[in-house]
Amino acid sequence: MIVAIDGPAGAGKSTVARSLADRLGFRYLDTGAMYRALTWLALNDGVDLEDGSALGLLAEAARISFDGERVLIRGHDVTEEIRQAEIDRVVSTVARHPQVREVMRDRQRELAEQGDAVIEGRDIGTVVCPDADVKVYLVAEAAERARRRVADRPEIGAEALATDLRLRDQRDAAQMQPAPDAETIDTTELDVEEVVDRIERLVQERAKASK
Ligand code: DC
Repeated sequence: MIVAIDGPAGAGKSTVARSLADRLGFRYLDTGAMYRALTWLALNDGVDLEDGSALGLLAEAARISFDGERVLIRGHDVTEEIRQAEIDRVVSTVARHPQVREVMRDRQRELAEQGDAVIEGRDIGTVVCPDADVKVYLVAEAAERARRRVADRPEIGAEALATDLRLRDQRDAAQMQPAPDAETIDTTELDVEEVVDRIERLVQERAKASK
């Protein structure tokens, strides 16, 4: 079974998806980490972030793998580095290129085909796994999303983070449409357990229906 969890930054996707995967005993796949790792490599190699063809070739050539919670690209463990503000600010520039998205989509589909998984991203329910068994679109009010980011990135000022989030939303907008058959959950007033409970119920309903 595939559970697709999409939504904007700060809506709670990672925390919820990880916890749900744990509960269900499913694999957890963070597709944002793949775009982040590619961005890290492009900066490292000095590839122009506006050059979609060069980035597409880089994506094809560079293997991205997961080792538990660790993220590796071309043999480098980039788990911590890809969470830095420097990557936050430019990752959507990289993720915007169709050449990059095509390579990522194929890789993510291959990973999805390996069996039960909770997959989080922006376009999982629409593009990567349009046949996902359960599709959820998480949203939260802007102020709450910014507050969560501050907790994640205590070294950066709240105002700078709110601005970064707004800019990233604008750049990610093309990839951020909920699938028509996705269940939208507003997480503003919910805690993690409540959101995970709701999605787990959807998973159980789906499992029953397909018996
Ligand atoms: O979820 P995140 O913040 O780690 O994602 C990083 C960036 O990658 C985000 O700005 C949008 C992009 N992304 C995407 O375009 N498609 C996905 N499936 C996942 C992430």
